Amino acid sequence: MPMFIETCTAPTNIAVIKYWGKDEARGLNTPINSSASVTLDQDDLCAMTSIAASSDFVADRLWLNGKEEDTAGNGTHAKRLRKCLAEMRGLARDRVDASGAVVCTATELASYKVHVVSRNTFPTAAGLASSAAGYACLVHTLAKLYNVEEAYEGQLSTIARQGSGSACRSLYGGFVKWVKGRKPDATDSMAVCVADQAHWPELRAVILVINAGKKETPSTEGMQTSVETSPLLAFRAESVVEPRLAAMEAAYRARDFEAFGKLTMQDSNQFHATCLDTYPPIFYLNDVSRQAIRLCHAFNEHKGRILAAYTFDAGPNAVIYCEAKDRDELLAFMLHFFPPPRSGVESYTNKPALLKAAAAMPLEPALLAKGNELRTPAAGDVKMIYCTAVGDGPRTLGADEALLDAATGFPLEQKLQKWQQTLGPAGGGGGCPVAPTVSTYAAVAVAAIGFLLVLKKSN
Ligand code: DP6
Repeated sequence: MPMFIETCTAPTNIAVIKYWGKDEARGLNTPINSSASVTLDQDDLCAMTSIAASSDFVADRLWLNGKEEDTAGNGTHAKRLRKCLAEMRGLARDRVDASGAVVCTATELASYKVHVVSRNTFPTAAGLASSAAGYACLVHTLAKLYNVEEAYEGQLSTIARQGSGSACRSLYGGFVKWVKGRKPDATDSMAVCVADQAHWPELRAVILVINAGKKETPSTEGMQTSVETSPLLAFRAESVVEPRLAAMEAAYRARDFEAFGKLTMQDSNQFHATCLDTYPPIFYLNDVSRQAIRLCHAFNEHKGRILAAYTFDAGPNAVIYCEAKDRDELLAFMLHFFPPPRSGVESYTNKPALLKAAAAMPLEPALLAKGNELRTPAAGDVKMIYCTAVGDGPRTLGADEALLDAATGFPLEQKLQKWQQTLGPAGGGGGCPVAPTVSTYAAVAVAAIGFLLVLKKSN
């Protein structure tokens, strides 16, 4: 029985100009406004997916974090998965070997059922873009499996978009724009790489995980209510986003952190204002989020310019962008006010050495005084601090990285057990084992999984 397996990883992305609202008239998960994001380093946060196709399989099946999920029902994500699969099967081409000989025709390949195993390495459904990475990874892996070639640049992103809107942006590294497009068939509602990760390699992100649990209002549902009830959202989509996007793109191209940072914070604030303007209102930020916002502004005020820029998605977690030269001091400042638990930094971060160095760094007394006016240092409000940087797009891994058994096409039990064992109570995760050469999962603290249940903003 012929069987083909592909394994890939995909990064998450955090928007600096937010997508919020679907264009119901056009459908196909098109947005009411264009958006832009920075792709984060998948060595720190990623989704990893293996997909096998075989004539022996009797059904399309999916395992998330070792648990089999329904793919046939009417759940939103079972439907989204089927949609992505159908679109990708439609683009299948013959699989060929190294010499160019056909080993499986496109028609055969597309008729085989698939087994999908997926996981990710960061808190799920907590506004940390797990569905973005998950669906981007699904589409990228299917593209490898089906030997797909894009008929036009960005075509795959139009399919990832139908899994989860923000997923289209995770198909590229660096700074990525999701152009809302105009065509009724939505083939132009796609992601475009504005500048790859090499353009601004000094860009860093510090993520304060304030709540790793499931969010109260799934983003799909939240944005629907916002579209229906928020006049501010309509105004934002019509009049604010386009000029702001142009200014953001220019700031990114010029590596002008002041401009980039200010626009990032303003856009996050406006997104959360539209949530408040939604009826009934949606609250994604909490008191700890607001303290993180104030501390960021205090840091910038003390420095006399914008060196740190927060942004929040559909959850309370803060993503703070900065440049490499300012990262350690910012980290020291945040660490002072959000100290690790008594057990130490090991389980508090993906970069213990970095946090240890930051904890030992003396803070300027005037900066400390400013912070003290805003918060009394206390452990527990922040569950984890991730440190990461701008990163590249999806990667294709070797056969030895597969999460599926090459002989049976079923999940590798040993690996699945390891993931389950490493699931932390708070859903905290560690580094991602994605460097193609790294095949040990024992060292990896896995937060939770995948793209169906875990959905960034929609579950
Ligand atoms: C606040 O992409 O999760 O993170 O298309 O319904 O799956 P669906 O929504 P999703 O929403 C993301 C919203 C956001 C902003 C952003 O990432 O641009």
